[in-house]
Amino acid sequence: MKIFHSIAEMQKVSQELRQAHKTIGFVPTMGFLHEGHETLIKEAKQQNDVVVLSIFVNPLQFGPNEDFDAYPRDIKRDETIARKLKVDYLFYPATEEMYKSERATLIKVEKRVDVLCGKNRPGHFDGVATVVMKLFQIVMPHNVYFGMKDAQQVAVLEGLITDYHLLINLVRVNTVREHDGLAKSSRNVYLTEEERTEAPSLYRALLLGKDKILKGEEIDNVTQFVAKWINENTQAQLEYLEILSYPTLAKVTDTKKQESLIIAVAAKYSKARLIDNIVF
Ligand code: PAJ
Repeated sequence: MKIFHSIAEMQKVSQELRQAHKTIGFVPTMGFLHEGHETLIKEAKQQNDVVVLSIFVNPLQFGPNEDFDAYPRDIKRDETIARKLKVDYLFYPATEEMYKSERATLIKVEKRVDVLCGKNRPGHFDGVATVVMKLFQIVMPHNVYFGMKDAQQVAVLEGLITDYHLLINLVRVNTVREHDGLAKSSRNVYLTEEERTEAPSLYRALLLGKDKILKGEEIDNVTQFVAKWINENTQAQLEYLEILSYPTLAKVTDTKKQESLIIAVAAKYSKARLIDNIVF
């Protein structure tokens, strides 16, 4: 596995790979890799000639009161995992490398962000879209792999790819879960033992909601029911519980219409903010 810290080096190799007609699969991450990330890498390995993994904790997508400094990092461990999975290139730039010159532009996401995480994290998806666009220009991938754990991120990035006519295929990868249903996340390490035992209830609540929708219950009633269930059955502080169409993230008006829905939750424990969703 080759490790690149420099944009120029990464771009040069990507250009050469493209000239040699190799397909490039790309998995962007912020590191502290877990089985969720590993699944993305494995899928990329199966579908491409070479796989590029990036690790970059992007300051632009963290709000002033969010956990940028405290975000868990362990590059040595990440390198070991990447080697084990036979990643071909690890792109690991410093913040100064990625934001070398004073930024003259910012991608402003206008749709799909006034709901779910976008509502309480102003500017977050602008930061995601901007860094992902930069990474796409550096890695020049054919296929990119994103997890449905962050379903709103997928919806936003599908919009980005369409808007800017990017010749990139986005592969949606299903959420990888612990045995008890808790969605794997780098932030799970912040849960206390008691919170960790209880946290799978969030997923259970989503499944209860899905079941009720499939039985034809009104969206508003299901939303209220699931929110109440979480408040009564967990210590977590509910930030949102929403049921929307997917990937447009619009309000559901007609449940009879055959469209994909998302039921999504964000909840705060003492030191960790957890998100989860199901799309069906
Ligand atoms: P990060 O949180 O490190 O996640 C990297 C990728 O792993 C994302 O596509 C995310 O959806 C996926 N992922 C995380 N947990 C998962 C799980 N349990 N199952 C399946 N996939 C999972 O998302 C980011 O980084 C950043 O916003 C990034 C796109 C890298 C831009 O900075």
